[in-house]
Amino acid sequence: MPPLSRRNALLLGGLGLAGTAAGGAGLWWSLRTDQSPVTGEPLRQPETLGSSGGRLEASLEAAPGRFALGGRLAGALGYNGGTPGPTLVLSPGDVLKLRLGNKLADPSNLHLHGLHVSPLGNGDNVFLTVNPGRSLDYEYRLPPDHPPGLYWYHPHHHGGVADQVFAGLFGAIIVRDRGPAPAGTDRVLLVSDTTLDGAGNVAGTSTADRMAGREGNLLLVNGQANPRLTARPGERERWRIVNCCVARYLRLRLDGQKLQLLGMDSGRYGRPPDVQEVLLAPGNRAELLVTAALGRSVLRALPYDRGTMTMMAGRGSAAQDAGDPSGTALATLDVEGGRASPAPVVAAAGAAPPDLRSAVVAARRQLVLGTPMGSGMGGGPGPGMGMAGFTINGLRFDELRTDTVVAAGTVEEWVLVNRSFMDHPFHLHIWPMQLIAENDRPVEGTILRDVVNVPANGQCTVRIAFRDFSGRSVYHCHILDHEDLGMMGVIEVR
Ligand code: C2O
Ligand code: CU
Ligand code: CU
Repeated sequence: MPPLSRRNALLLGGLGLAGTAAGGAGLWWSLRTDQSPVTGEPLRQPETLGSSGGRLEASLEAAPGRFALGGRLAGALGYNGGTPGPTLVLSPGDVLKLRLGNKLADPSNLHLHGLHVSPLGNGDNVFLTVNPGRSLDYEYRLPPDHPPGLYWYHPHHHGGVADQVFAGLFGAIIVRDRGPAPAGTDRVLLVSDTTLDGAGNVAGTSTADRMAGREGNLLLVNGQANPRLTARPGERERWRIVNCCVARYLRLRLDGQKLQLLGMDSGRYGRPPDVQEVLLAPGNRAELLVTAALGRSVLRALPYDRGTMTMMAGRGSAAQDAGDPSGTALATLDVEGGRASPAPVVAAAGAAPPDLRSAVVAARRQLVLGTPMGSGMGGGPGPGMGMAGFTINGLRFDELRTDTVVAAGTVEEWVLVNRSFMDHPFHLHIWPMQLIAENDRPVEGTILRDVVNVPANGQCTVRIAFRDFSGRSVYHCHILDHEDLGMMGVIEVR
């Protein structure tokens, strides 16, 4: 595969720009230092589209354009004329009608990541295709007891997901709290990475980078490079953070500030624990309470070693941005001015989810995540090896095959086994997973996740209540290049 994929070549053609085939990722930044990203801009918030009276009707148009990335105009993809797309704000029980218009050069579609809604028909159905020039009306009904919190949307058309997300197609979804808000200020921080080529367009990717999972050399928050936030001492803010990166893990720290973890994915803590560091695998979200303390603090993404394709390469080499041990600055918080008196921390409202550790388990399954270089497969990397090796239980994704049939209303236990030298973040649509054990170490409490990190040569045990909805959907690795290469399976609940 050439460095510039067919898709991106088409995209550049569509923009009427010269498609440079210079594969050198980051040339634009590294050779033209006058074009280095602009930092220190005030953090901007995506536009919001909020429901009222139990409904939200909105349109999302996916199209190429010149959008601000790191303070410079770059050739990218966006929803409604920008990246990130608008934030959808909903309440439990709402009906959401979304028209997706596709002005891209390639097929696309829409997935609402983490939402507990039906996968049938024009619901959260990733088997639908919206071809270039076409549009589709989606309709979703949130159950009245839908968990509040942070979710996100992105395209899910198999084979093109990583390219489209890397180029800027993603946005946040907020499901409103039932009770009083835990903080006076609410911010959305969508963290993404991308690479621009010599012409300032989102760059294509090599086969080797797809196999490793591409990591961009620009790390952005809401499309900005190290933007600035300000607060007064004592103020309490809620930061809703999504890891929208195709493959990069985010080990986040905000030294000098008091941090509490309100929740991760669709799970919330009854009493938010104090934390120093939060690890977000691709696709994970976290809601943090920040109680501002005087001074300047930097939100950093510290290096995380997720392994590599081959054991020989060792962990933390080539494919990874080995990086500065102090990490990359994502955003800077300046706390200054007169003291504010924060409201007391309120515990998460809403019913606690049932603890599945004491549930009756109807079926136990094992899902083995495999890569071409994993155990049991010989041979070195090379063109002959092909891409057939990104599998679950030895099989590449086939949308016509149903891999897992589950009886509606039952609870299952799945052991997720990783037989490769790199971590894989495992994601199941529609139904949240409760973490039961990590590498045989039992997990305390009711910890719900939509994306579970399965460590290299390790395993995780989860339990899932297949309640409320039936129909066909998918589970996959959320390193989106791996999903596109085939590490995805079809589940049918009936
Ligand atoms: Cu966020 Cu199937 O994906
Ligand atoms: Cu999802
Ligand atoms: Cu993977």
